[in-house]
Amino acid sequence: MADLKISGLHKHYGAVHAVRGIDLEIPAGEFTVLVGQSGCGKSTLLRTIAGLEDVDDGSIEIAGEVVNDLPPRERDIAMVFQNYALYPYMSVYENIAFGLRARKTPKGEIDVKVRSAAKMLAIDHLLARHPRQLSGGQLQRVAIGRAIVRNARLYLFDEPLSNLDAQLRDEMRGEIKRLHQELGKTMIYVTHDQIEAMTMADRIVVMRDGRIEQQGAPLDLYERPATRYVAGFLGSPSMNFIDATLVDAAGGLAVRLSDGTMLALPADRQAGTGAYRDRAITFGVRPEHINRMRDGESRTGLARCTATVVLVLPTGSRTYGTFLIGGIPAVAELQAHDVPRVNQSVELAIDMNRAVLIDPKTSAVIWTGEPNKEK
Ligand SMILES: Nc1ncnc2c1ncn2[C@@H]1O[C@H](COP(=O)(O)OP(=O)(O)O)[C@@H](O)[C@H]1O
Ligand SMILES: [Mg+2]
Repeated sequence: MADLKISGLHKHYGAVHAVRGIDLEIPAGEFTVLVGQSGCGKSTLLRTIAGLEDVDDGSIEIAGEVVNDLPPRERDIAMVFQNYALYPYMSVYENIAFGLRARKTPKGEIDVKVRSAAKMLAIDHLLARHPRQLSGGQLQRVAIGRAIVRNARLYLFDEPLSNLDAQLRDEMRGEIKRLHQELGKTMIYVTHDQIEAMTMADRIVVMRDGRIEQQGAPLDLYERPATRYVAGFLGSPSMNFIDATLVDAAGGLAVRLSDGTMLALPADRQAGTGAYRDRAITFGVRPEHINRMRDGESRTGLARCTATVVLVLPTGSRTYGTFLIGGIPAVAELQAHDVPRVNQSVELAIDMNRAVLIDPKTSAVIWTGEPNKEK
């Protein structure tokens, strides 16, 4: 049974329609990440689940019970906020213990729970301090500690790491994931950061303008996005989008770029593309699927093109090159030591088995080189 089931949910703030018909089921024990740009309604959705906002329409069920009219404290939910929301005049110990005290937990039990949570989060040496004596990362740990001692049914996290610097964020990502593995609780985590979503989620729910754009396992969304929005949102650097035409060529259909370059679709995977023959399409390919053409290389699904180097960004682990492909700047991921000169002309190989084709009118992905996995 779904631990959380949301049906037809709507929420307005005056004239702003923040949540526009959300249907979502979350199985027990799953780590779900709600991801989307700022303002798309992530926090609003989370706050309606927690009971901090009323809904205008639709229902929220937790473990089979409609909770629309239950006050927050009766929903058995623990929430971690972006701004920590700690009590400044209480010690770390008192902050973590607060929810347990409010629920009249026996003192001895509180003590065991607070100390074990603090240990798990490596803040057991800070229990006597006050929030103002802590760093951002330590404050965030206290806020997480306060949530996990609660032994709630459902844990909600609203961008808990966005106030931390990059290194600490990486570290805390791993810790929250580890916590989920240890506790096995149902967790919903909100972020605008697609890398956080990819690395942490069992399942990603991509939101856009108050609606769900697509949901699925991280790699499923990455390899088989349903829309241009999802294709461009997941992945860094982003997928390249190149205006093109789908045309007949020897061996089947091919993508023709504006400079006449022909990129043949893999012969065995052209199903469903026929309707787009001689029509404008958007060709999408990720940086890691554009490489240097190696001498004598020929492999099914590899298409060749000549491109001009515009910009080169070495990062240490790899080099990102921007090339004009069919007249449009596109990023390719090269080997770390492969640093071509600007204005140089190079031969590139595009892995058509990993590309996507998009209908420019509807923005729907009409074809992915990755076949659908049989479930
Ligand atoms: N309390 C509020 N009053 C009025 N508008 C709000 C309120 N909270 C959020 N909104 C609006 O609702 C939309 C969704 O906001 P929010 O859920 O906070 O987005 P996100 O968390 O994805 O950034 C935005 O347009 C935002 O301005
Ligand atoms: Mg928000």
